[in-house]
Parts: sequence; C-alpha cells; structure tokens
Amino acid sequence: MARLLITGGAGFIGSHTCVVLLQAGHDLLVLDDFSNSTPLALERVSALAQLDNQSCQARLQVRRGDIRDPAGLDNLFAQSASAGAPIDAVIHFAGLKAVGESMRVPLRYWDVNLTGSRCLLAAMDAHGCRTLVFSSSATLYGYPECVPIPETAPIQPINPYGHSKAAVEQLLHDLAASAPNQWRIACLRYFNPVGAHPSGEIGEDPLGTPNNLFPFVSQVAVGRRKSLQVFGGDWPTNDGTGVRDYIHVMDLAEGHRAALDCLLAEPAQLLTLNLGSGQGASVLEVVHAFERASGRQVPYEHVARRAGDAAITVADPSLALQRLGWRTQRGLDDISRDGWAWQSANPDGYDEPG
Ligand code: NAD
Ligand code: UFG
Repeated sequence: MARLLITGGAGFIGSHTCVVLLQAGHDLLVLDDFSNSTPLALERVSALAQLDNQSCQARLQVRRGDIRDPAGLDNLFAQSASAGAPIDAVIHFAGLKAVGESMRVPLRYWDVNLTGSRCLLAAMDAHGCRTLVFSSSATLYGYPECVPIPETAPIQPINPYGHSKAAVEQLLHDLAASAPNQWRIACLRYFNPVGAHPSGEIGEDPLGTPNNLFPFVSQVAVGRRKSLQVFGGDWPTNDGTGVRDYIHVMDLAEGHRAALDCLLAEPAQLLTLNLGSGQGASVLEVVHAFERASGRQVPYEHVARRAGDAAITVADPSLALQRLGWRTQRGLDDISRDGWAWQSANPDGYDEPG
C-alpha cells in the first residue's frame, strides 16, 4: 500500500477517486484550496470508505493549500518524510476545467494549470517522489479527424484550457526524457466524466449555471432549471444532436487505481491513455436515459450549435484495456441512476446537506 498526495482531492473526480483508493488500502493526503469544492465532500468520502475517527486521521489527511505555493509544497513533502510517512506517489487533479471561462481568463488557466503543475513537479523532484498520475483531457484532440480517437491522434487543442493541458503533457515528456529511469508517469485523457457515487452522497456540484450537459439535465429534472437548450439539431449523427463518450465517474476512479498499480509495479515509463467507454451517446439519448432514471420529464428546445463543439468525440479505449486491464463497467442507465441519486438527495449540491 502506498501513501499518496491527492491534489484537488475534494473535487468531483478527486472525491470519487479518494473513496476507491481508501478502499484499496492506500493512505491519502489531500491538498486542495477549495476554490471549486468544499471540505464537506471529504467528510462524506471518509464516511463512504467507513473510516472511524482514528483511522480517518491517519488515512485521510486534508491540507488547505495552493499547488502554486512552492514553500507549502516543500513543507508537505518534508513533514511527511520526517513523520516517517513519505509520499510515494501523487495523483494530480487540481486545476481549472471550464472551456468558456478559459477563453475569458487565459492567464488564470495557464497559471493554475501549467504553473501549478510545474511547482508540483519541482517539489516532487526535489523530494525524490517521481510517480505521478496526471488528469489530462480528451479536449487535447480538438476537432478529431477520426473517431473512435486513438492516443496517436494529433494534439490540436482549440481553446486555452486545452492548450494548458497539452503544455503540461509536453512538460511531463521533457521531464521523463531528462531522467528516463526515474519518472513513472501516467497521463490519463478523460472523455466526459459524469454520474456520481451510487450512494448519492458525493457527486458533481458546479458553481452557478452548469456548462456541461449532464449537470444541466439533472438540474432540469430536479426542478432547479426550466428546460434544456440542445445545441444544434443538424449534426451528422443519428438524431442530429452531438455525440459524446460519457464515462461513469466510478469507472474513472477505478481507472486511476489501475494506472497507479501499473506505475508502481512496472519499470519507469510514461504512459498516455484514453479513459473512455468507447461508446457514443447523443444529447437526446442522455435526456431520455435521465428521464427513465428519474421518472421526471426533461423539457428541451433546439437552439443553434455552440461555438467550438465537435459533432462526435468517442474514445478508442483499447490501449487502457491492454496496459491496465481496465475497461468501463457502467453504462448510460447506471450513470443516470447514480446521477439522479445524488441530485435528488442534494438538490442544491453540497450547500444543502441531504
Ligand atoms: P473540480 O473542479 O471538481 O476539482 C478540481 C479541484 O482542484 C477542486 O477541488 C478545486 O478546489 C481544486 N483546485 C483548483 N485550483 C487549485 C489550486 N490552485 N490549488 C489547489 N487546489 C486547487 O474538477 P474535476 O471535474 O474533478 O476535474 C479534475 C481534473 O480533471 C482537472 O484537472 C480537470 O481539468 C480534469 N478533467 C476534468 C474533466 C471533466 O469534465 N470534469 C474532463 C477532463 C479532464
Ligand atoms: N450540450 C447541449 N446543451 C447544454 C450543454 C451541452 O446540447 O446545455 C451538448 C453539447 O453541444 C455537446 C454535448 O452536449 O454536444 C456534451 O457537452 P458538454 O459540455 O457536456 O461536454 P463537452 O464534450 O463539450 O466537453 C467536456 C468538458 C471539456 C472536456 C471534454 C472531454 O467540458 O472540458 O468534455 O473531456 F475536455
């Protein structure tokens, strides 16, 4: 079992991954500035992993801090080592992720995503911790030239968010090349993470109006919003609406555990893997799956296409299966059922304890 630093561990994907890692027996130190999350998520993580008070203090430690603070990072690594529990590996979720916002405030995105990652990597290197799982994104593929998309597809981001993720991947390549037998790195390119823990205790809690389809649909179903705008009905797809590869966040969490196990067991390497299901679903298929799961109607209207959207993005996930023995286990109905369990028990997200 390893002791892991989890940056951004209170966020949507981080919190679900913490549950899986704790259940696998790892000890966690979460570093989060809570700019897009709440400590309550981690309290619920500890309950879900069935940690009693004593083991909670030892197995799930939480520090409020910023990944761009070199002194804070240095302290974290040094204190862990001097307490006899050095950090073996890092899972790096902390970052900003909204495409539209990245176009309005690119400096912020480059700062948090690139400078933050550079600070983290420098601290890891200085303390001899050279095992990292990095949250990359399918956004790197821009408008894909072939679908399903393999990892060898060209990197051609179309917004500052995507450029910042591509830059971190490049930095990781440069670092691995500088010390080939030392760094163990997995860049995981997520497709569309959605859903929630089946308990409904933790889930996605976007600030303000959701930009993404799934949280928007679930907020319509629960009555927080009147109707969904479907961006475009004339895409070259089965029903004219955009197609995406939705991946249940618990499948994604299990993908992180598998990637970590692989890095710790194998010789030093840099792995780049798509994490997706390999299945596409259209906007209307998502709406109908959510209606079935919730028993609620999701009214919608067609509006113009959204700038920057592609018609279809679907992963080729075969390399992850080959290298990690991992594939998704849950489909759109599971995603909708678990997403609804979270949304219906927490209609206002973490603001309103369920
Ligand atoms: P999230 O916003 O829910 O989680 C990110 C966490 O990082 C939050 O808890 C936030 O408070 C924290 N954070 C932000 N800036 C920080 C800083 N400077 N220092 C310390 N903590 C900071 O996002 P998520 O959906 O869980 O995404 C996690 C990672 O996965 C991100 O890097 C994101 O870019 C990437 N990703 C997400 C998606 C998606 O659709 N959710 C898709 C592909 C990639
Ligand atoms: N859509 C609507 N109405 C909405 C929201 C979305 O019709 O209110 C449509 C979009 O046009 C698209 C599909 O639903 O066809 C999915 O859109 P999302 O915004 O949920 O997801 P994207 O595929 O556009 O992008 C998301 C993240 C990116 C990430 C990418 C791949 O926002 O950061 O998944 O991981 F890079």
